[in-house]
Amino acid sequence: MEKVVAHTDDLAPGEMMEAEFDGRPVVICRASDGDFHAFTNLCPHQGAPLSKGQLCGAPEPTDEIGTYNYKNEGNILRCPWHGREFNIKDSGRMLANERQKLREYKLSVEELSVADGNIILYK
Ligand code: FES
Repeated sequence: MEKVVAHTDDLAPGEMMEAEFDGRPVVICRASDGDFHAFTNLCPHQGAPLSKGQLCGAPEPTDEIGTYNYKNEGNILRCPWHGREFNIKDSGRMLANERQKLREYKLSVEELSVADGNIILYK
């Protein structure tokens, strides 16, 4: 099964949108590097629609105690309800618990023109 769920020009880097695939809600994300990723649109905590959250960055500790760097701008999907964060460039892995990941969907991009293409989910 495969389905066109969006076009590449629907999303700028750092943006996301909801879609539907195989009867299930999915969130299509465009990372800061322009790559597309698709995940379940249900947070594993209590089922919030992740597409209503934010694509942002997150602080990471440095070697200096108490000092953090803000990194991964546009690549961290933050849940709208309680703020759990998932790295879309690391298979949707949760930042606070790296053993938990979002369900990720296979995706391909079919170029239609220089500026646009189809985003296709498949299984
Ligand atoms: S429902 Fe997503 S963090 Fe609670």
